[in-house]
Amino acid sequence: MFKALVLEQQDNRTLSSIQQLDESQLPEGNVTVKVDYSSLNYKDGLAITGKGKIVRNFPMVPGIDLVGEVLESADERYQAGDKVVLTGWGVGEGHWGGMAEKARLNADWLVPLAEGLSKENAMMIGTAGLTGMLCVQALLDAGIAPDRGPVLVTGASGGVGSVAVTLLAKLGFEVAALTGRVEENGPLLEALGAKQIIAREVFEEPARALEKQIWAGVVDTVGSKVLAKALAQVDYDGAVAACGLAGGFDLPTTVMPFILRGVKLLGVDSVMCPFEKRQQAWAKLVELLPASYYEQACRTVALEDVAECAEAITKGQVTGRVMIKL
Ligand SMILES: NC(=O)c1ccc[n+]([C@@H]2O[C@H](COP(=O)([O-])OP(=O)(O)OC[C@H]3O[C@@H](n4cnc5c(N)ncnc54)[C@H](OP(=O)(O)O)[C@@H]3O)[C@@H](O)[C@H]2O)c1
Repeated sequence: MFKALVLEQQDNRTLSSIQQLDESQLPEGNVTVKVDYSSLNYKDGLAITGKGKIVRNFPMVPGIDLVGEVLESADERYQAGDKVVLTGWGVGEGHWGGMAEKARLNADWLVPLAEGLSKENAMMIGTAGLTGMLCVQALLDAGIAPDRGPVLVTGASGGVGSVAVTLLAKLGFEVAALTGRVEENGPLLEALGAKQIIAREVFEEPARALEKQIWAGVVDTVGSKVLAKALAQVDYDGAVAACGLAGGFDLPTTVMPFILRGVKLLGVDSVMCPFEKRQQAWAKLVELLPASYYEQACRTVALEDVAECAEAITKGQVTGRVMIKL
């Protein structure tokens, strides 16, 4: 038997409870993993509270991330005892996920735990941190360098945002952090490396087609009006890495930034990201993310605390990263 958070549906409402399950109930897969930690992402929050249509079949064990050790493997790439990480691939949405002491998975979805990374730190990074890294890499690949000018991170106190702020600062960029919680999180964002803290209200006024050019690059986790405003303020030949919709999935913009300033809008997805790109991103996270990030921006909770944390993350009330100890 093993312990799991289980989501069920009753009268169109999602209910979560902690249950003891039998290994025979695990879904199909060729690798069984003893899960040490999972983590809480915005998507997990939507799944657990039922506020977003994330879960494709019930009952479901949520958790789009996990780290643990292989118990049994029918795939030659993995042996019992190997430390592995999983993020994305629809796990915790259509296939039982990380918020359980055991998981059965497809070997193609796993990544060996990067050298030099502890299991704890891997889950403090999780999907959010991996996505932050992929956004930063997308800007670097588009030629955005520290000497091009300041960069902006929106939704800065969240999981993706706080990692992006830290990574960009470590790479030598002058980082501005946009947040709806200036007083509460300004000091933390400065400690992570932000040079400027901007209140979200400033970005909620409708954007003009083109505004004063300020940013060489942007990491956007918010979407909607905030992304539209950021696009209007990006420098000639600058770039925006867009990965999130915490403020809405619409985009009330015009073509002007693209056709008059050559601004590039770069979509970033971590869920289906190919293996090699993931492995490179994990290695770069090990190299770039300082110990101070884990110390200042992460906390650990028990499975019993997840329902409350899930509610909080959907309301934009979580700061940094939340790791779940199984
Ligand atoms: N494309 C991908 O593969 C991928 C992967 C991971 C995450 N995501 C997406 O990226 C976004 C961030 O994920 P996360 O896990 O970092 O979530 P998170 O920890 O909840 O962070 C989101 C942050 O956005 C800001 N925010 C919240 N509600 C807002 C609103 N109504 N308007 C404007 N800003 C708001 C808040 O920061 P402040 O308080 O500082 O403003 C919040 O902390 C989510 O939309 C998520 O679905 C996408």
